[in-house]
Amino acid sequence: MALFSSSTQDIPEASSVPRHVAMIMDGNGRWAKKRFMPRIMGHKRGVETVRDVVKQCIDLGVEYLTLFAFSSENWRRPPDEVKFLMGLFMEALKREAAKLHENQIRLVMIGDRSRFDPLLLKEIHAAEKLTEHNKRLTLTIAANYGGRWDMMQAMQRMLHAHPEKTSSFSEQDLAPFLSMHYAPEPDLFIRTGGEQRISNFLLWQLAYTELYFTDTLWPDFDREAFRLAVDSYRQRERRFGRTSEQLTRNA
Ligand code: IPE
Ligand code: IPE
Ligand code: MG
Repeated sequence: MALFSSSTQDIPEASSVPRHVAMIMDGNGRWAKKRFMPRIMGHKRGVETVRDVVKQCIDLGVEYLTLFAFSSENWRRPPDEVKFLMGLFMEALKREAAKLHENQIRLVMIGDRSRFDPLLLKEIHAAEKLTEHNKRLTLTIAANYGGRWDMMQAMQRMLHAHPEKTSSFSEQDLAPFLSMHYAPEPDLFIRTGGEQRISNFLLWQLAYTELYFTDTLWPDFDREAFRLAVDSYRQRERRFGRTSEQLTRNA
């Protein structure tokens, strides 16, 4: 029996507080540009928003928060910006790991780790290990993550573990090998910064997630902006393939 139900195999329970919120933190560069500052200042400011959003999730009772910090395609950016982002990630890990632990937050990093600096990897391992038994909120940072990479690595690892499944396997066989196997599928997806696309984020896991797009740039994404997103989520009717009548009959 799988730990969490799959939205395509079963009907997940929908609650008024999203259990799992996944966010694409976009718009840092434009936030800085508007202020005639270099793009990296927007990234710096963005870290503060992360801190606030984590607090808001705890206050709301969200159990899982997943943040897209760096995509597998973000290596295409100018080398200086990539370097700055890696440095910022390292700095934030060093500074915040103990605080996360104090607040009973579990930190998990998903993504392809093979391109990271060994020192950064060491820091990631240490923070994950320190916080692994925390239960209040699971904060997942997707770094060098890509939805296609996730599906490919899951298939490769599954076939390695079960070579007999080459010709036939099920969703349930694959599920434990996907990066977010430890979490229910996201209930609410939020993308800041105005673009309405998934940008190769959680492709598998967003199958039945409610999508919310806002023009607010990530550094400006405050408590009120988050509240608007959750309000919008609360107004959705999550049918998972059924009719509206079926839902009211079961209520
Ligand atoms: C998101 O902000 C942060 C990362 C992708 C790391 P951007 O840097 O994409 O900001 P915009 O979209 O250029 O404004
Ligand atoms: C998506 O933002 C990735 C992250 C927020 C980490 P981008 O700004 O890189 O996305 P695109 O390239 O505009 O789709
Ligand atoms: Mg962007």
